[in-house]
Amino acid sequence: MTAQFSKKSEAWSARFSEPVSDLVKRYTASVFFDHRLAPFDIQGSLAHAEMLQAQGIISAQDYADIVRGMTQIQSEIDGGKFEWLLDLEDVHLNIEKRLTELVGDAGKRLHTGRSRNDQVATDIRLYVRSAIDDILGLLKDLRLALLDLAEQHVDTIMPGFTHMQVAQPITFAHHMLAYVEMFGRDAERMADTRKRVNRLPLGAAALAGTTFPIDRLRVAKTLGFDDVCHNSLDAVSDRDFAIEFCAAAALIMTHVSRMSEELVLWMSPRIGFIDIADRFCTGSSIMPQKKNPDVAELARGKTGRVNGHLVALLTLMKGQPLAYNKDNQEDKEPLFDTADTIIDTLRIFADMVGGISVKADAMRSATLQGYATATDLADYLVKKGLPFRDAHEAVAHAVRVCVDRNCDLSDLTLDEMQQFSSLIEADVFQALTLEGCVAARDHVGGTAPRQIRLAIARVRGLCEEGR
Ligand code: ARG
Repeated sequence: MTAQFSKKSEAWSARFSEPVSDLVKRYTASVFFDHRLAPFDIQGSLAHAEMLQAQGIISAQDYADIVRGMTQIQSEIDGGKFEWLLDLEDVHLNIEKRLTELVGDAGKRLHTGRSRNDQVATDIRLYVRSAIDDILGLLKDLRLALLDLAEQHVDTIMPGFTHMQVAQPITFAHHMLAYVEMFGRDAERMADTRKRVNRLPLGAAALAGTTFPIDRLRVAKTLGFDDVCHNSLDAVSDRDFAIEFCAAAALIMTHVSRMSEELVLWMSPRIGFIDIADRFCTGSSIMPQKKNPDVAELARGKTGRVNGHLVALLTLMKGQPLAYNKDNQEDKEPLFDTADTIIDTLRIFADMVGGISVKADAMRSATLQGYATATDLADYLVKKGLPFRDAHEAVAHAVRVCVDRNCDLSDLTLDEMQQFSSLIEADVFQALTLEGCVAARDHVGGTAPRQIRLAIARVRGLCEEGR
């Protein structure tokens, strides 16, 4: 949609004895950004008009004229031909004015029993609902892409880290499934937020309701809302649903930023665990050898703006007296940018995950470098009857010797091992293989390939059910 903005036409009222200055006009106008709400504004107006005629508040002819006018307006907007006027302040007045130009008095009757206050609250809810539906679809795509990647690496061993130090062997699939869980909770949060977004403010009018015999449930049903907002003051004033949306979005970006950080680290030649397809990377204007993981870095960076939008909305709402205040006009830009950022980021991530190639050898040799099997040796001793704290101490001594000799635990001979504990027998070497270590963690949530296969199937099932 290409929007044109012009300055002309009169403002709203005979109540004023002097026009506002150009600066004030620009300062108070929102049409520069809220024109994006047009499809939702039209949808809301049509549902309102349909109810007005069903209730006998406007005639069937008026309703037919409104439908005709709105259809034309929508196609003018779609074709980039609609002229947005700064003097008409916002999306609502621009559309209403054009409607009246096109269909005459029916256009002037549309606003019966309605105010811009309940109108804009409705538009915003429709907008957020549609953004949530897009985001839910994209979260599902991302989870499915991660599952596909995981499926190829159920047996690929990598070091699991704590404190960025090699901790225990895990599988790469297990690592990917951690993000699948995070994005799954993000989807739950968005779906839950949707329930509170999906309530109809229309009918609240300016703040107190209206004297016309309206049917709010009818409008709610037409617009696919689950319920109406039950207090008119609350309906026009609170934006908690938008704040909730931004909070859920901030958590999505938080998860994206964690994953981004890992992708950046893993792609560094110093670590070299993965490569990312060229189409998601860029070069350097000076260093010919560079291939930078820009998408991951940018996503990590964009987390800042989404967090900022959440704080902006919280601060916007804080301390606002009932009911509507113009402050609320400031809800839109942070909200739009949040949805745009999340939607672009998820779309690109779902794609980029398919462009990750895993360097299993590098992961394996890194796992062999950090005594990742030490806990398994301790567990081995416990299974032979040693109390865990004593086993921990015995293995610590063994690791110390290996560090001095720059070798792995499994490089020690049986004799050498037995110096740390007489309980150690020849079967210890099996317990110290990387495959043995991961396969042994065979319970729900564990890293054993058997469990990973079950976990992948479980999440695929959830995705299919739309959860
Ligand atoms: N542009 C306004 C907004 O975004 C619409 C509501 C204006 N209502 C009013 N009484 N000035 O909030």
